[in-house]
Amino acid sequence: MSYHNPYTPPRKSATFDDYTLAEIRRAAATGIYDIRGAGTKRKVPHFDDLLFLGASISRYPLEGYREKCDTSVVLGTRYAKKPIQLKIPITIAGMSFGALSGPAKEALGRGATISGTSTTTGDGGMTDEERGHSQTLVYQYLPSRYGMNPKDLRRADAIEVVVGQGAKPGGGGMLLGQKISDRVANMRNLPKGIDQRSACRHPDWTGPDDLEIKILEIREITDWEKPIYVKVGGARPYYDTALAVKAGADVVVLDGMQGGTAATQDVFIEHVGMPILACIRPAVQALQDLGMHRKVQLVVSGGIRSGADVAKALALGADAVAIGTAALVAIGDNDPRWEEEYQKLGTTAGAYDDWHEGKDPAGITTQDPELAARLDPVAAGRRLANYLKVMTLEAQTIARACGKNHLHNLEPEDLCALTMEAAAMAQIPLAGTNWYPGKGGF
Ligand SMILES: Cc1cc2nc3c(=O)[nH]c(=O)nc-3n(C[C@H](O)[C@H](O)[C@H](O)COP(=O)(O)O)c2cc1C
Repeated sequence: MSYHNPYTPPRKSATFDDYTLAEIRRAAATGIYDIRGAGTKRKVPHFDDLLFLGASISRYPLEGYREKCDTSVVLGTRYAKKPIQLKIPITIAGMSFGALSGPAKEALGRGATISGTSTTTGDGGMTDEERGHSQTLVYQYLPSRYGMNPKDLRRADAIEVVVGQGAKPGGGGMLLGQKISDRVANMRNLPKGIDQRSACRHPDWTGPDDLEIKILEIREITDWEKPIYVKVGGARPYYDTALAVKAGADVVVLDGMQGGTAATQDVFIEHVGMPILACIRPAVQALQDLGMHRKVQLVVSGGIRSGADVAKALALGADAVAIGTAALVAIGDNDPRWEEEYQKLGTTAGAYDDWHEGKDPAGITTQDPELAARLDPVAAGRRLANYLKVMTLEAQTIARACGKNHLHNLEPEDLCALTMEAAAMAQIPLAGTNWYPGKGGF
């Protein structure tokens, strides 16, 4: 006979919580791992764990309505004859046509152009909608080479050689058969309706020396005009940045583990890579050690949502940021107005991440023509521009409060950390002290 203790309620395990139990049962029932889109869903140390100190007596603030705070940034000043001039330091990250619908790509181009910033292609090549509506378009050169052609390299304003992504450093892309329409198949030169797994490494190079040769080849094809970016996932930021610089990069793009993806294994998203907060200072250190800080620009991404995040990334030493997920939300992703349809897909607005299935009610992560037609690229582009404007105003407000007349004048000294983890990762003193754990190295 079992004894029931009336004083103690049933106790669930923190290790085997409800979600974990459900995952074990799902794996046991299906025998396949979970694939999904978006970024990590667990809480990791982030920009929220840093605060700005602001000005008082020892620092003098700028007057919000009268004194200017510049937001412009130039990317690619090292070698390129035509560096990229942006009005704001917030760029749109590479997201593939295939993962995203044609109208979604167009909306990103429109919003970025209104705001004076750049957008980026992705796996699968450049579409005419995107080129046509993007004043400044960065063309990704990826391991898969899907949709790559020299003509488009020349039509781009900058080239981004993708070595890795924060959501899956060391992993390749995935585009499942449901999203391989005639057009996507045509652009990628692959059969329709068949799952595509993009390579995780470039076919013709295995290390930094080959990367140097590749960068030189691209420079020659593009007449040394276009800046060449190198994008890496947040894995070993000090060495990866140093090697990218050594290989000839004009710009290093560093994407932390919170970074979104169109589709990959959940285990990858949640367990591989470092939070962006831990990546920025080592990357900046590498640039400083090489005498290249501000000469090779650093663009960072992974979970950037607000002007405060932008200002914090810049204060840690980045020159600009890139946004993926937030830009999709701004154009209409996971909008509660589609709640009824999210429910039919077994999810809810805010949690929808089965982007690989191509059934997105908002018409963004789909190739279904009827669903895609739901997104009005003009209105969506305007929403993105509004959002970018708000982020910029927020970052300016903070910078002025710190007495800075350019966002790039923000510095680590303007910050304090709320937690020991953030203090250690960002090398920012814990609030109220002049100390952070591990002072002296990483
Ligand atoms: C739908 C989607 C598609 C993506 N496709 C690509 C891609 O083709 N190439 C790439 O380098 N990164 C890709 N990414 C990653 C983004 O470029 C970027 O690194 C990431 O979204 C930044 O993090 P955030 O989403 O938190 O802003 C994709 C991200 C999303 C959300």
